[in-house]
Parts: sequence; C-alpha cells; structure tokens
Amino acid sequence: MKGDMEPVTAPLTTIAEVGKHVGEAITLRGWLYNLRASGKLLFPIFRDGTGTIQGIVPKAQVSEEVFATLKGLTLESSVVITGTPRADERAPGGFELDVTDVKVTQAIPEETPYPITRKEHGVDFLMEHRHLWIRTPRQSAILRVRATIMRAAAEYFDTNGFTRTDPPILTPNACEGTSELFEMDYFDDEKAYLTQSGQLYIEATALALGKVYSFGPTFRAEKSKTRRHLTEFWMIEPEVAYLDLDGLMGLAEGFLTHIVKRVLETHRNDLAVIGKDIAKLEAVAAPGEFPKLSYDEAHQMLVDAHAKGLIENPHEYGDDFGSPDETYISNQFDKPVMVHRYPAAVKAFYMQPDPKDPTKALCVDVLAPEGYGEIIGGSQRVDDYDLLKSRIEAHELPMDAFQWYLDLRKYGSVPHSGFGMGIERCVAWICGLEHVRETIPFARTLNRIYP
Ligand code: 4AD
Ligand code: MG
Repeated sequence: MKGDMEPVTAPLTTIAEVGKHVGEAITLRGWLYNLRASGKLLFPIFRDGTGTIQGIVPKAQVSEEVFATLKGLTLESSVVITGTPRADERAPGGFELDVTDVKVTQAIPEETPYPITRKEHGVDFLMEHRHLWIRTPRQSAILRVRATIMRAAAEYFDTNGFTRTDPPILTPNACEGTSELFEMDYFDDEKAYLTQSGQLYIEATALALGKVYSFGPTFRAEKSKTRRHLTEFWMIEPEVAYLDLDGLMGLAEGFLTHIVKRVLETHRNDLAVIGKDIAKLEAVAAPGEFPKLSYDEAHQMLVDAHAKGLIENPHEYGDDFGSPDETYISNQFDKPVMVHRYPAAVKAFYMQPDPKDPTKALCVDVLAPEGYGEIIGGSQRVDDYDLLKSRIEAHELPMDAFQWYLDLRKYGSVPHSGFGMGIERCVAWICGLEHVRETIPFARTLNRIYP
C-alpha cells in the first residue's frame, strides 16, 4: 500500500489547538520558554505564540539523544517538538505534552544567553528589550487580547451599517488643541501635523455616507508622563449623521458590551495568565444599562466624597475631573459610567452647547471601571455655521485651514455625533494593566522611541 513505508511525521498543530488532539502524536513549532530538571525527569515549557505547554520527559521513555538535547537546551532556543498531549487539570492551559522527539532549529549558545531571565527585571530594562519582552507569555497574552479588542471594535461597526472611511494622518490643522501637535515640514515651506483624531474628516464622510468610522494611529505631543498617555496610539471613531447625544451614549454602550463579550468568549486562558479578575468583566457584559451621570451629579458625588474624607482634594465646580476624581467616580459602579454635559469651557471647540444650559456641552466621557478613567470621549457636534465660525475664532484656530470643515455646516448641515476610543486605554482596562506601555507592541512615550 502506498505510504506504508514512508516515515510517519506527526501532524502539525498549535498549543491553542492541542485539546483537539489528546492522545494523538502531534508536532509543535516554537521556542523553549523554561526548563526544569529533576533527576531523571525534564519539564521543558514550550511556547509557540498561541500559548505555552509543559512537556514531561522521563529519561527512560525517550532516546538518549533526545534527552540530552532537551537537557542542554538554552532558553528561547527554537525547536520543533513531537509529542502526545494529555489532559491535566492542574496545567495552566489544561494540557501537558508527553514529548517523544525534538529537532533544534537554532540553539542559543551558552556564552550569549537570552537576556530576559526568570528573575525580576526593572521596567526600563524590559522596555529597552521590548522586542524580546513580547515573547513572555503574559505579554503575548496581552497582545492577543488587544487583537481581539481591535477586531471586535471594527466588527461592531461593520455589522451595524457603518462604512469604514480612513482619514489622513498628515493634516493641515489641529483637532484637539494646538499645543499637542507634532509638526513637520511639508514641501515648500508648508507645515503639516500628525493627526490627533480623524474626527473632523469623518464628520465629512458621515454627511456623505450616514454612518461611518475610522480606525488608525493618532498622535499627541503633550509632554505627559502619566500611565494613561502615549504619544502614538490607535483610535477607533464612529461618526453618525442625525444622531444626538442620547443616541451616541446608546452606541457607546452597545459597542463596549460587544467588545467585552468577545474577549470573554475567546480569552479566558489569556486573562488568567495576565492575572485579570474575570468576574469584573462578566459584570460589564451582564444585562443592565451603564450608569449615566451629568457633570453636575458627578461633581456632587465628589463633594460628598471629600466631605467624608474619601478623596484628598476637593473638586472645584467648573474644572475638568482629575485622575483621582475619575477613579473615585468609576469605583462606585461595576459597569463603565457615562459622564455627560461637562462645562463647555473645558471641552473642545466643536461640541454642541446644551440648549437647556449653553454653558454645558452635549458631550460624554465614558469612564472604565476599576479606576481606569476615561476610555471614550465623544459629543454632538456644532451644526450651525455661525456658531462654529465664532468658536474657531474664539479658540484662535486658523480659519483658512477650517474652510472645508465650515462647508459641512453650509451645505445640508444636520445634527451629528461621534466618539473616539483609544484602543490602548481599553486594553489596559480589560487586561487590568498598570500602564498603557504594555498594551501596544512598541509603545511611544515621552522618554522612549527605541526599539
Ligand atoms: O478625548 P479625546 O481627545 O477625543 C477626541 O480625540 C475626539 N476627537 C474623538 C471623537 O469624538 N471622535 O480622545 C479620545 C480617546 C480618549 O478617550 C482616550 O481613550 C484616547 O482617545 N486617548 C489616548 N490614549 C492614549 N494616549 C493618549 N495620549 C490619549 N489621548 C486620548
Ligand atoms: Mg477626552
């Protein structure tokens, strides 16, 4: 029979898929993450980008060569392993591997070992070696969850009648405040700026297509060192014609719930590796509306908290909320909280005033639970030509650069609204991370542009 005499090579699979091959010989391609030896037993841990699995290698059950090869293997050497998965409740992923064979793709010499060891390293060292740090199971898990968050975010709009319209990254004007712009030369003495938000452009595409979104990198140049700030981050922004603030809040709620559900569907193992309390996410996905607070109500909550000694600094009416304020407010709820109608004076020029109190803007910030603070900022937009023009003047923005934006209020203007969510802030919240620098493969911050 054809094939009888051919060498049997076990089918190739991944660590994420070993559960489908219990009791069958399989091949995995990956790297040695860790190795423990105990007398005549070796416990290598392999990783392959989809997860990690511990191998069991009793000396008596493999060839001398295979045992010696594994025993001498240095960390992060690349290997192709053959073995048989076995269910084991105590194993992190639920399975262990009875290793039968190993082929070394590249052995790292003892003299030049992999720089990241199992001992504790400082964050600076790890960030300096970010190109290698991302191999650590926890970091890989974060990046997998990030990918799902990005996919789920786009999917929500793709399946709800939105058209993705990509705005330019090089722009002639600011969107979110002129002091936070990266400037560059753009031929013949012209200046260009890296976009802070696609919003102004997707207002145009929303008036063309109705429901649109953009998804891309955005840039902020302020010299901030906080754990929530990146100079380059990814923002997803929907913009909808004929939508008011209430409708926008409903959209943000449906959107965030969808993302959390998708993460819970596929990343329970990853969240466990990362160390996230899954019950906190289940509470977000559970039925029930997100709490809504006006700025005035949120302010009152802070006044009461200060009177009881629960927050250190009093909140000044009219000021934006600081990080400790946002932390306190969000800690009162187990779902994201929507704070709406901030004083217009602390918000952007393009926000529609509240007809009931024009000192307030028809805007919303969504504060994530567990003290993560603002993850979404959005608003209804000024739709009146004269009002928008006076706002541009009041903010001393260059009128020439905004002519096209004013045109949108001249030709068939309608009420319209949108928001932006920073992917990294969302990942930090969902994964429960201290700092946004771990939420993106290569973070760009005030003090770091390497690697
Ligand atoms: O609140 P922001 O500045 O709003 C806008 O840019 C609007 N134009 C969006 C819109 O209405 N289409 O930014 C929106 C979100 C924030 O809530 C936060 O999640 C994220 O973008 N963000 C940052 N993330 C990381 N690092 C930074 N420096 C960020 N600045 C904003
Ligand atoms: Mg904001």
